[in-house]
Amino acid sequence: MKVFIITGGSDGIGAEMARQLAATHKADASLVIAGRSQDKLDAVAAQCEALGSQVLTVAMDVSDEAQCRDMVAQATARFGRIDALVNNAGISAQALFEDVTAQDLHWYESLMKVNFWGAVWCTHAALPHIKAARGHIVAVGSLAGLVGVPGRTAYSATKFAMTGFFESLRIEMKGAGVSVTTAFPGVVATQIRYRGYNAKGEPAGTSGLKEDNAMSVQECARLIIDGMNARQREVVMTAQGKVGRLLKLIAPGVVEQLALKALKNEVRPR
Ligand SMILES: NC(=O)c1ccc[n+]([C@@H]2O[C@H](COP(=O)([O-])OP(=O)(O)OC[C@H]3O[C@@H](n4cnc5c(N)ncnc54)[C@H](OP(=O)(O)O)[C@@H]3O)[C@@H](O)[C@H]2O)c1
Repeated sequence: MKVFIITGGSDGIGAEMARQLAATHKADASLVIAGRSQDKLDAVAAQCEALGSQVLTVAMDVSDEAQCRDMVAQATARFGRIDALVNNAGISAQALFEDVTAQDLHWYESLMKVNFWGAVWCTHAALPHIKAARGHIVAVGSLAGLVGVPGRTAYSATKFAMTGFFESLRIEMKGAGVSVTTAFPGVVATQIRYRGYNAKGEPAGTSGLKEDNAMSVQECARLIIDGMNARQREVVMTAQGKVGRLLKLIAPGVVEQLALKALKNEVRPR
């Protein structure tokens, strides 16, 4: 039996990863799916249980350290081990830095707590169990964690922080047989940008990015699972992302133009 914890397992990429793991491992998978919305967790759990897996749902907020530690404790109390932790819970944001008022700037810290600290706290709590299983840690970062994106000073900062944290941890864990895989999705067809913060820290209700070539959530989840299974260091998801990363070293101005082009006209810097 393999025990997988997925934060942000109630929707989007995390929910799809849970369904794909259940479809592959059936009764051999025990899934812990965590997120704030119990009703959404229940719906995903029912889909995975129908495929034969056991599921523990934990309604929790990753921006609270105690809730992260309690979620991991619940997982080990129920299943006795942890083979993989997928740090996927995240929120988005789209705002030009100069449009954020001093009164509203606090949401930059909230975003960091969810996207970065949530991953750090869950990983810290789960690490002894993952070491015992010589298992896997997965971080769902973003291409915005490799290349700065205009309108995403907050989001890019959280994802660059994840990139550095998990790159360092990967080397620390090498001798322990624990793999650390960082996934760098591009634009994936979920609701994340619509729910993400605007300059006031309210749900944006609209996406600032061009969505026409968005990757399907199924393909994104499959690439992350394949990367985890192969114990890959990184899963850089789009050709543009792979090229952009290298190009940044030799022609950063070109990459900046590409980053601007990814934005809809109405959210571009004035
Ligand atoms: N979609 C993309 O284009 C894209 C691109 C690059 C990277 N990513 C990354 O992929 C990950 C998943 O994104 P997605 O597109 O699947 O987004 P999504 O559909 O909005 O799902 C986000 C998940 O995170 C959970 N979540 C949000 N805040 C939370 C909190 N404070 N505590 C616990 N759970 C929380 C949500 O559940 P509740 O609302 O129930 O809490 C939900 O399950 C994120 O880390 C995101 O940054 C996405």
